[in-house]
Amino acid sequence: MTRAFSGIQPTGDIHIGNYFGAMQNYVKLGRQLGKQAIFCIVDYHAITIPHEPEALRRRSFEAALVNMAVGLDPEQVTLFVQSAVPEHTELAWIFMTQTPLGDLERMTQFKDKAKQHSVLSGLLTYPVLMAADILAYKADTIPVGEDQVQHIELTREIARRFNGRFGEIFPEPRAVHAKDALRVPGVDGQGKMSKSKGNTLGILEEVGEIWSKLRVAPTDPARLRRTDPGDPHRCLIFDYHRLFSDPALTAMVETECARAGIGCVDCKKFLMRGVERTLVPIQDRAAELRRQPDAVLTALETGAREARALARQTLEETREAIGL
Ligand code: ADP
Ligand code: NA
Repeated sequence: MTRAFSGIQPTGDIHIGNYFGAMQNYVKLGRQLGKQAIFCIVDYHAITIPHEPEALRRRSFEAALVNMAVGLDPEQVTLFVQSAVPEHTELAWIFMTQTPLGDLERMTQFKDKAKQHSVLSGLLTYPVLMAADILAYKADTIPVGEDQVQHIELTREIARRFNGRFGEIFPEPRAVHAKDALRVPGVDGQGKMSKSKGNTLGILEEVGEIWSKLRVAPTDPARLRRTDPGDPHRCLIFDYHRLFSDPALTAMVETECARAGIGCVDCKKFLMRGVERTLVPIQDRAAELRRQPDAVLTALETGAREARALARQTLEETREAIGL
């Protein structure tokens, strides 16, 4: 692993599923790789479905702000907004001219999205832009979820085909999953936490708001009365303890729930300690950054300059190789 690339969707509505499932891993990657950890807020990707201009601008800014608030340090890593580096789209065009239509039509994510929206051609060519995002930096390591594996396969294919035809320029990147990939459950107890399901605990949500959601959240359905012993392993709140609470408290609630030593309301109140300890500092940093938007924008400009220097070099090689 020498250089990693991650695309971050421009959304401000970041929830604790995103935080524990992806962002914490990004922060760790940033500490390991420094400037070789490239984080790109992918606004060009975001416009492949209908959008509002002001909302997009705001969301790109929010994405930067929230990622910085959770610990992605723009002085340590490379953090920028995709559209500030036009080399991404230039390389994507070049790759499009070399990519069979059938390769794109068979992407399962395209097929799924095409059912929901009227299909813009950008939705079809989205994975080619993703290949360009990655290959512009010759990144070899791509931390992604299961749903992106097919796109990374296509990226490898695009690199392979290009190298075969025009000479070795691009390394074939590898998709890496966090080994202990977490799946944070939604507060409704109905499976995975997801924006689209409206069952989230937002990372910037007020602690009081979070409490009002947790207070009514389901627990072990077999525990009807305070005096019934519960099964923590069938309880959402215990899953959250494992994310938020220290090991001693987690062990305590595990034991005490199972022998009806504590009730569900107590257990939820204990959980709030860890929630506050985790989220309040993030929210304070976010508020601090919001008071100095120029600092965020300046960090993104610097990031774009750093990224662009790398991408431009790849584009020069690429153009040379294909006779442009
Ligand atoms: P959402 O499902 O809310 O739309 P995204 O699809 O934008 O979230 O996911 C952004 C990142 O957060 C991805 O890396 C994804 O794997 C991770 N992620 C999203 N929801 C969860 C969850 N409930 N548990 C763990 N990781 C998650
Ligand atoms: Na999703």
